[in-house]
Amino acid sequence: MASRRGKAASSDDGAKPAKLNKEAWRKTTRLFRYLKPHIGAFSAGLFCLLITSLLSLAFPILLGKLVNASASDGFWAAPLTDLTNIDSIAKLLMLVFALQAAFGFVRIYLFGLVSENALADLRQDTYSHLIRMPMLFFAQRRVGELNSRISADVALLQEGMTTSLAELLRQTVTITLGITLLTFVSVQLTLTMLATLPVVALIAVFFGRYIRKLSTQVQDRIADTNVIVDETLQGIQNVKAFSNESFEVGRYRSSVLKARDLALKGARWRGAFVSFIIFCMFGVIVFIIWRAVHLKAEGLLDIGDITSFLGLSIMIGASIASIPELVTTMLKAVGATERLMDLQEGTPEAISLAPRKEHLRIEGDIAFEHVSFHYATRADHEVLHDVDFHAKPGERVALVGPSGAGKSTIASLVLRFYDPVGGRITIDGKDARDYDLGALRDRMSIVPQEVLLFGGTILENIAYGRPGASRDDIEAAARKANAHDFITSFPEGYATIVGERGIQLSGGQRQRIAIARALLKDPAILILDEATSALDTASERLVQDALDKLMEGRTSIVIAHRLSTVRNADRILVLDHGMVSASGTHDELIADTGGLYYSLSKMQLSEA
Ligand SMILES: Nc1ncnc2c1ncn2[C@@H]1O[C@H](COP(=O)(O)OP(=O)(O)OP(=O)(O)O)[C@@H](O)[C@H]1O
Ligand SMILES: [Mg+2]
Repeated sequence: MASRRGKAASSDDGAKPAKLNKEAWRKTTRLFRYLKPHIGAFSAGLFCLLITSLLSLAFPILLGKLVNASASDGFWAAPLTDLTNIDSIAKLLMLVFALQAAFGFVRIYLFGLVSENALADLRQDTYSHLIRMPMLFFAQRRVGELNSRISADVALLQEGMTTSLAELLRQTVTITLGITLLTFVSVQLTLTMLATLPVVALIAVFFGRYIRKLSTQVQDRIADTNVIVDETLQGIQNVKAFSNESFEVGRYRSSVLKARDLALKGARWRGAFVSFIIFCMFGVIVFIIWRAVHLKAEGLLDIGDITSFLGLSIMIGASIASIPELVTTMLKAVGATERLMDLQEGTPEAISLAPRKEHLRIEGDIAFEHVSFHYATRADHEVLHDVDFHAKPGERVALVGPSGAGKSTIASLVLRFYDPVGGRITIDGKDARDYDLGALRDRMSIVPQEVLLFGGTILENIAYGRPGASRDDIEAAARKANAHDFITSFPEGYATIVGERGIQLSGGQRQRIAIARALLKDPAILILDEATSALDTASERLVQDALDKLMEGRTSIVIAHRLSTVRNADRILVLDHGMVSASGTHDELIADTGGLYYSLSKMQLSEA
């Protein structure tokens, strides 16, 4: 009972079943693309399904034969083999079971094979689509939601595809074939049965669902009362200090009584359900038998026919009763499919997943030509206005300005996370939009403000800059980044696990790993979003030294917070409310004592 309740609860807070409209149907049919490669196995599975369904119907019929072994009148009189012989019928039954077992195994395995392969393909397709979506897409969605599409929605789909679809097919075959067989036995009796048994079975199903819902509600009520106990015992000081014992007792009492009333309601319905089953279900069966006996008296049926008929009817009734649940699961799967297909219908960035053969050759000349920009999510808020600057190959351009001025936005535009709304960005004199996006980003590196390391070893984290890099190259990069010494001071060296489940590195250490990663990539263009958090002087020097080596010979755009970085820059852009308010070298800018740069360097840069 407990597990059933759990299941009901979890399926309630799972995804809502879909409405079967044209759109849902169109998206669902797109699933067939994933079945197509396995169509052979799928057909074979369907065939086995048909056979097992047929064989399961043979059971009540043979049972009738068994009962009827000596009689020789009625519909089933024509012997299949020697069906007057009890032994041969028993042998035949054993054969039926054996075949059913064999085909059942093959069917389940084949359907599993097809659906697991299809789902694996679907998962991969969805993920590779997802990861190539533009930044705007991620800005509009929560990571949890996207995550649950790949995990929960695929799981719903899996349930729908692996078990429910096959079951639905099986039950449909059982019902149609079963009813057909019944009409051979007796049309009159079949009509009587159809008018009663399925109706009662369906009522029982909905009855049962209602009762399950009630019992979940009772659970919730009981949980409410437990909250009161919890709260008051935790905060017992408050209760006593305010002398509120009687108030709490009253609160608890009314909560307990609510739960009791609901539970009693559930008890009434359960009682009604049992009476209903006894009276209606068995009543109907007795009614059918009564009709059957009358027909027998008229010489239209024999005792074996009646046995077969009852057996078949019960099977059909059970099949019909299982359909609503199966349909609900299927509709949930359709809903999940819709959401997954929505995801696949978004336009991804033009990034090829094929391995890149050679690197794009660029000098690293960057120019912003009257660039203006606003984020699509906030169209009324212009973040950059007429930004114009030029960084020649190998130059170091620093961006300074107050928080929210648009510095990181400029970095995002260089990386082509977004395209400018007005003006254009050129790389080596050519519009950045005319480059292959993947190839262009391949020549850029970013050392971000907040370095996030992946769960894995330090070695793997550095190698992320160039997957497949040799151990020597990785170590060389780490040395240049002033990271080698602290890495080798760990007992496990480069194999030290970092990230969520590993050791935590200090801010300066993380940055040096990120620098090593960027060095390994050897980009033409480097973007540096300096960490705002202050490092101590020792690691500050190590990081700055590593950065200097990293920037050598590359065009660098540095969002600067450190005086040392700004001093050495070839040009400094002072950004204010999305506009370049001044530009020049440190000495030029600092001379203007009324300017923003002067006050910024007094306040912010002197702290570092
Ligand atoms: N994804 C986004 N969607 C909408 N608006 C954004 C987005 N990212 C930034 N903004 C807005 O754009 C403006 C510039 O932000 P940006 O991150 O470029 O500032 P910043 O100069 O890097 O500031 P800080 O020094 O604090 O990092 C801010 O007003 C910010 O609210
Ligand atoms: Mg920023």
